[in-house]
Amino acid sequence: MKILHVDSSILGGHSVSRRLSADIVARLKAAHPAAAVTYRDLGAEPLPHLSGAVLAAAQGPQAVSDEVAADLKAGAAVLEEILGADVIVLGAPMYNFGVSSQLKAWIDRIAVAGKTFRYTANGPEGLLKGKKAFVALTRGGFYGPDSGMNAFEHQESHLRAVFTFLGITEVNFVLAEGVNISPEQKAQSLAKAAGEIAALAA
Ligand SMILES: Cc1cc2nc3c(=O)[nH]c(=O)nc-3n(C[C@H](O)[C@H](O)[C@H](O)COP(=O)(O)O)c2cc1C
Repeated sequence: MKILHVDSSILGGHSVSRRLSADIVARLKAAHPAAAVTYRDLGAEPLPHLSGAVLAAAQGPQAVSDEVAADLKAGAAVLEEILGADVIVLGAPMYNFGVSSQLKAWIDRIAVAGKTFRYTANGPEGLLKGKKAFVALTRGGFYGPDSGMNAFEHQESHLRAVFTFLGITEVNFVLAEGVNISPEQKAQSLAKAAGEIAALAA
């Protein structure tokens, strides 16, 4: 089993989503000791935003600058990582109601027509079938159905759409919300998430 572990928080050692994604990976490793883990830290080593020059260069052979060549290489590397993975574990904080821009830059590199999805006469088809994903979501506030903030939630809904579009239908979300409300609330939300992770990996 090949696990791709991706973190996307910019908060380094203070990150909550990193803690949860590491917990998920540790439990998967305990259940599958032979599993190989590839780790990508989008916070420490951000991918450049997808640009018009890179998109044009990816369409066919042409002379490109060193900068564009390095950019294409970085994009190809993350694409290979997800194509080669059986399980994706993602740490995904909510920043300004959606995912971090670092994570969005990664999504822009893995959503590639002909590689991870294709358009057919019957509409789009995801090509990452058979893979499984675990997503650790963290939020400072609350965005559930009764919170009054549900319409602002573009984090889980976005990731659900992306994974589904790419053909990954088995996506397990673990949520720790309200982590910036108070230390007590944070502890409670993390304990709940830890329980969910233990149940997932059981
Ligand atoms: C730049 C930034 C934007 C944030 N935006 C939101 C937000 O829109 N809603 C929210 O509930 N929390 C927001 N937060 C709080 C984070 O979701 C919270 O701190 C969470 O723990 C982040 O996950 P992390 O610790 O793994 O980075 C924001 C935090 C940062 C640093």
